Amino acid sequence: MTAARPALELIGTSAPIEAVRRLVRRIGESPTRAVLVYGETGTGKGLVARMIHAQSPRSQREFIDINCGAIPGGLVESELFGHEKGAFTGAATRKTGLIEAANGGTVFLDEIRELDHVVQAKLLTLLDTQRFRRIGSVRSIEVDVRFIAATNRILFTEVREGRFRDDLYYRLQVVAVNLPPLRDRGEDCMVLTEHFLRELGERYRRRINGWAPAVEEVFRAYHWPGNVRELENLLERIVALEDDARIDVRHIPPRIMREVERGPSPTASSADPTPARVGAEDFHQATARFQRELVREALVRSDGSVGRAARRLGLSRHALRHQMSKLGVTRE
Ligand SMILES: Nc1ncnc2c1ncn2[C@@H]1O[C@H](COP(=O)(O)OP(=O)(O)OP(=O)(O)O)[C@@H](O)[C@H]1O
Ligand SMILES: [Mg+2]
Repeated sequence: MTAARPALELIGTSAPIEAVRRLVRRIGESPTRAVLVYGETGTGKGLVARMIHAQSPRSQREFIDINCGAIPGGLVESELFGHEKGAFTGAATRKTGLIEAANGGTVFLDEIRELDHVVQAKLLTLLDTQRFRRIGSVRSIEVDVRFIAATNRILFTEVREGRFRDDLYYRLQVVAVNLPPLRDRGEDCMVLTEHFLRELGERYRRRINGWAPAVEEVFRAYHWPGNVRELENLLERIVALEDDARIDVRHIPPRIMREVERGPSPTASSADPTPARVGAEDFHQATARFQRELVREALVRSDGSVGRAARRLGLSRHALRHQMSKLGVTRE
């Protein structure tokens, strides 16, 4: 028997997730060389990047996953672009970069905003010309690579504050996938729960008979700062530690129950830094600020057209108008 690999599949029936699924398919088939995937932590950016690769003619070639925030600053350039022997102290041999290794395939640049300006500039040149130079080389090399960049922060803010090049931002922004937070797609929560419980049941060789109605109420009310990953982890914890056949509210950690009962407190935040978590800001304030920026950015990018901005955000026109009046955003 072979170990089942989790299928590359976006689970969910909500309109925004349907829209993402369609978009992923289209991008996969298209010749687009740059894609930006945006979403809070745990919303499925890594999953979407893999799906785009798998659904593209590049699927038989490499998918190289690079976490830009995990490679020490000074090493990123040589990791990505490679270097010639003697290009700098310590470059004892010639090294092929990851981009060259991914020729014909896909490079996934996770946490793209962590790239420094030098690398951002090289990347932009590469996107424009499909050519790059290894460090210390005068010869440029042609590559055929698709870049998928991911970020859990609004890059526009980084651009405004000078941390991210605007030209690269606009280049990446041409084809963008926006993954909505789980809290904004209530129906997906239970569809995902059902899916994960089925998977966990098989993995743990347990029979799990659904959940008590109160669980659904809690799940729909909770803010899920860690999004789908948090839901998946919570369910696994319950299946691993509890014997009951049915998921019950008493299995849900008090932290979540408290938050749902009282509404989010200023200290309620996830272990992961979500884009909404900024300093001592209240969770609601931070979320609203973040939503406001998202909506404003979509409107700017759509030249003030609500219809196009709504599509960009995976919302209906009506939902976007509602958000605009709630958040106090005008078309300007
Ligand atoms: N719609 C979905 N259907 C099924 N599984 C999902 C879905 N969205 C996310 N997941 C699962 O949730 C987990 C987290 O997703 P992923 O790692 O892609 O998130 P991410 O956005 O890359 O998070 P981070 O910003 O923290 O890197 C993964 O196990 C992924 O397979
Ligand atoms: Mg990820």
